[in-house]
Amino acid sequence: MKKYLVALMMALAPLTAGAAGSSVPLDSMQVDLENTASLQRGMAAFVNRCMGCHTAQYQRFERAANDLGIPNELVEQYLIFDQNKKIGEHMTNAMPAESSKVWFGNPPPDLTLESRLRGPDWVYTYLRSFYKDEARPWGVNNVVFPDVGMPNVLEDLQGVVVNHCTPEEMHSEHGKIDPLTGQEMGGCMSVEPKSGSMSEEEFDQYVYDLVNFMAYMAEPSKMVSGKIGTYVLIFLVILFVFAFALKKEYWKDIH
Ligand code: HEC
Repeated sequence: MKKYLVALMMALAPLTAGAAGSSVPLDSMQVDLENTASLQRGMAAFVNRCMGCHTAQYQRFERAANDLGIPNELVEQYLIFDQNKKIGEHMTNAMPAESSKVWFGNPPPDLTLESRLRGPDWVYTYLRSFYKDEARPWGVNNVVFPDVGMPNVLEDLQGVVVNHCTPEEMHSEHGKIDPLTGQEMGGCMSVEPKSGSMSEEEFDQYVYDLVNFMAYMAEPSKMVSGKIGTYVLIFLVILFVFAFALKKEYWKDIH
């Protein structure tokens, strides 16, 4: 009996670990797989800004291009930087894992399934909550991923974010943070004026598109499964009409 109890606890352990989650309130975002323009912009951002370090090794360029309605020639011309890579290949890069571990402390993980692993809200908040911290090797820290090994690769767009709170204040219940405005959450963070090329709304939209694409990538079949469900229901309704007529025919002489 004890053995079974231990086995059950071990089976449930990942659930509790997931539930613990981040101690920081996350900004929520609504994934929209119908918004093709957003997904297309997100793919461009991902390829340009993330794939220097990260891979999406379970996703092929061609599948993404077809699902997002981007012509193959455009993807080949603008989104595949390696001359030897074909559109049918996986979205990998040339960064050697051993060296990147030395450079960053941790190798940049593959991001194909990241949005399923952490959830879109987490990724959305993470990308918007880097802040200046001279004590760190890259000069930045992160609110939801303390002591992260990744530099703030979007700083030229967002600007330099300054944190006015101590770590304790940041993670405490009432010191809730809005990484960008600092408003309504205790005023911990603010962007240095004119240090980024985008306004706050533009930057939020940029990161939204990026995470929207990452959510698509983590589960591409979701795009069609909703539509298939509708077709199946319509089919069942039509089938019911015929089945009902057949039943009437069979039972008509039985009184
Ligand atoms: C200069 C290299 C570099 C670039 C460019 C880069 N990252 Fe990272 N990223 C890293 C490293 C290194 C880590 C691992 C950090 C750690 O474990 O401390 C990481 C970690 C992450 C994580 C957390 C993974 C996890 O769950 O542990 C996410 C999410 C992420 N990156 C997203 C992105 C996105 C999206 C982009 C493009 C906008 C991007 N990164 C661009 C180097 C990079």
